[in-house]
Amino acid sequence: MVSTHALEAQNTGRQYLTDITPERSPNQSLVPLTAKVNDRDHLEIGGYDVTDLVQQFGSPLYILDEASLRTACRQYRDAFKRYYPGESQVLYASKAWNCLAVCAIVTQEELGIDVATGGELFTALQAGANPRKIYLHGNNKSLSELKFAVESGCTIVVDNRLEIETLASLKTDSCIQIMMRITPGLDCHTHEYIRTGHIDSKFGFDPNQVEEVFKFISQYPSLSLVGLHAHIGSQIFELQAHQDLGGVMVQWLNKATQHGFTIKEINVGGGLGIRYNEGDDPPSIDEWVKTVCDGLIQACQAANIPLPKVLAEPGRSLIGSSCVTAYTVGSKKTIPGIRTYLSVDGGMSDNPRPITYQSICRAIVANRMSEPMTETVTIAGKHCESGDILIKDATLPPTQPGDTLVVMATGAYNYSMSSNYNRLARPAAVLVGNSNAALILQRETYEDLIRYDRLPAHLK
Ligand code: LLP
Repeated sequence: MVSTHALEAQNTGRQYLTDITPERSPNQSLVPLTAKVNDRDHLEIGGYDVTDLVQQFGSPLYILDEASLRTACRQYRDAFKRYYPGESQVLYASKAWNCLAVCAIVTQEELGIDVATGGELFTALQAGANPRKIYLHGNNKSLSELKFAVESGCTIVVDNRLEIETLASLKTDSCIQIMMRITPGLDCHTHEYIRTGHIDSKFGFDPNQVEEVFKFISQYPSLSLVGLHAHIGSQIFELQAHQDLGGVMVQWLNKATQHGFTIKEINVGGGLGIRYNEGDDPPSIDEWVKTVCDGLIQACQAANIPLPKVLAEPGRSLIGSSCVTAYTVGSKKTIPGIRTYLSVDGGMSDNPRPITYQSICRAIVANRMSEPMTETVTIAGKHCESGDILIKDATLPPTQPGDTLVVMATGAYNYSMSSNYNRLARPAAVLVGNSNAALILQRETYEDLIRYDRLPAHLK
């Protein structure tokens, strides 16, 4: 469905902002909730003119809107309270954007944290997250990652037998809390790189072998199996697979009970999609949570078992729409009758999603908010790679070098998947809100780029 705002933009030929209010779901908005056009006709986020932020903090710049992130956290938390009569805990899948400030905000919002490596775990702990609310994932956790997690007191989501054996061999005073990740065998429509629910997946135990794995775990008294986990995939708009998940997981829970385990927790993973362009129409956070809860409640009622504690671990839908990336417009190349390339000062190193998943995002020109959109340009990054295209055929007002181009919905899997390709320094990130614009990630310098280089003596 195309929103009325997209249609309005076509009629008036002007750039537009959605009318999303804090009561609506941040993942359905193309822009952060606080975005507006100010009296200079500039884009403003969190009370700050985007062009001023770029002047102060440099370009490119990730701009994270605190209000949008906190609103999404609260919407998830409140929806679980509304729709689930049992206990619930929302975790932030920190692979979406793991850094101290983001981990601290979600912790303040009473979320737990899903970490996928020792590095993410370290950051979450440094940010003050409660280890009792941290869950370590991964299909090939190292011995040192497992030790670190056990010593920190977090729960480990086991993914394979090797890991179970390794954990059982660790010397600890108390039981190690584990959850078991199982491939749900549920298919859904999303990019093949981010689908995890189908049987042919590198993650989790094969559902046809769960009973053997339960027997295997029961040999090890130092391991306490507290829960079951499944994650279907990412950037999903359909609700059906999440509706069905409850039934599948309750079947496993019953099998675990038959093997003498008391399963207290069910983790349904993440996966809710966000709006990257006008064609995207994801369900709201509220609808997603209701679906997950209904599915689980119905399955528990049918099996006549008490409701377990439910955990969910969204990433993208918590933070994706809270952030934009501001770039400075540079050179323009027009190939008559073919295409106009408009280059910006970043690209695939700060946003690898278009080149990796062919994702389609939307851009606006922050300092020309009321000018008609009369140009079609392809927005190119500055990397030495023809595929480094951020947006193909974007409709924009005519631009000049030095203008501020803003790509929307860059909060999830942008900074966290960023690189130094072509030795480009990573951008800074600024957190805006509460009359404050605070640096949360410092811009890398040339010195940073060679910090870990070593020149052997014979090359000096
Ligand atoms: N739980 C597990 C076990 C996961 O593997 C993931 C994402 C999530 C939760 C969070 O999923 P979300 O709510 O964010 O959809 N780099 C890709 C996405 C990879 C997703 C990896 N796992 C992208 O940019 O689209």
